[in-house]
Amino acid sequence: MSIKPIVYENGVCRMIDQRLLPSQEVWIDYDDYQGVAEAIRSMVVRGAPAIGVAAAFGAAFAARDIDAADFETFECRFADCCAVLGATRPTAVNLFWALERMQRVARENRTLPLVALKQRLLDEALDIAAEDERINRAMGQHGQVLFPERGTILTHCNAGALATGGYGTALGVIRAAVEAGKKIDVIADETRPFWQGARLTAWELAQDGIPVTLICDNMAGYLMQQGKINAVIVGADRISANGDVANKIGTYSVAVLAREHGIPFYVAAPLSTIDLTLTDGSQIPIEERDRREVTHCGGLQLAPEGIQVYNPAFDVTPARLVTAIITERGVASGDYVQQLARLKAVSFSF
Ligand code: MRU
Repeated sequence: MSIKPIVYENGVCRMIDQRLLPSQEVWIDYDDYQGVAEAIRSMVVRGAPAIGVAAAFGAAFAARDIDAADFETFECRFADCCAVLGATRPTAVNLFWALERMQRVARENRTLPLVALKQRLLDEALDIAAEDERINRAMGQHGQVLFPERGTILTHCNAGALATGGYGTALGVIRAAVEAGKKIDVIADETRPFWQGARLTAWELAQDGIPVTLICDNMAGYLMQQGKINAVIVGADRISANGDVANKIGTYSVAVLAREHGIPFYVAAPLSTIDLTLTDGSQIPIEERDRREVTHCGGLQLAPEGIQVYNPAFDVTPARLVTAIITERGVASGDYVQQLARLKAVSFSF
């Protein structure tokens, strides 16, 4: 049973503070959209699908608290609140996807009395959260067949239950393989500078009893050279129409290493992560984060005072290095332009 990082109950959204894991398990309650926006911005909640789920609840809280006499006034104020939520982080497209979905549902239900419309929006946020876990389980089934019966899989960052509505994208495929009886060992990159691999991936796999070994990011090549890695799997924050993949900084280096060593490099991501409005990965906005993440660790200064720092939070792996993209509707490989468009066009609900 994997953790759910966001739980809704009686008008309150409870999120596990991922900044404190693994040493402390602290849950924080949010009951307004400003609080949810701050939770996303400050990384209490992180990971592309989880950010989308949180934003949907933020939008539902905003809707609930809008005082308006007619739909036009409501819609205008709702758009302002969604803009605040959308300004929190730029790279993960699931944030914008969820906010657009909430605004579309509002428009489609404009004839409802406002009280009923507000309830409809809360129901939509609950659907987005529950659907995300079902999507991850479907992705797990499509993806786990790509893994050997016995093998060691390297992952980078956290693409687990904590980064989603539950179960995980890349870690969901690993979970599904283990549930199918495969003997899987995981190698988790620590993922500097925010340590999502050490703090989150290692923690949640250990909680589930899935064998995991933590390595520093710069050890991956050595393990591959020694034949110790059978496959790599990562999540994604945004995938452009041609299959270029934006994911946590360091992912591109792992993909290059995997190609050099003939190791398959898989990406697991829901279709909401695929942004068909961008033709290639150069158009994906890359977040730059605080210099302190690079110069400090746990409050301890590790670099000279005033040193120049560059801290991009994501990089883009070109589609040619990606063996396959695993989605809830199937696996794309090769001609991503055609295949991703086809998968996005299929419509059935989860
Ligand atoms: O900066 P973060 O922690 O939000 O970045 C998270 C990642 O890059 C994940 O690998 C990605 O969102 C995939 S999540 C299923």
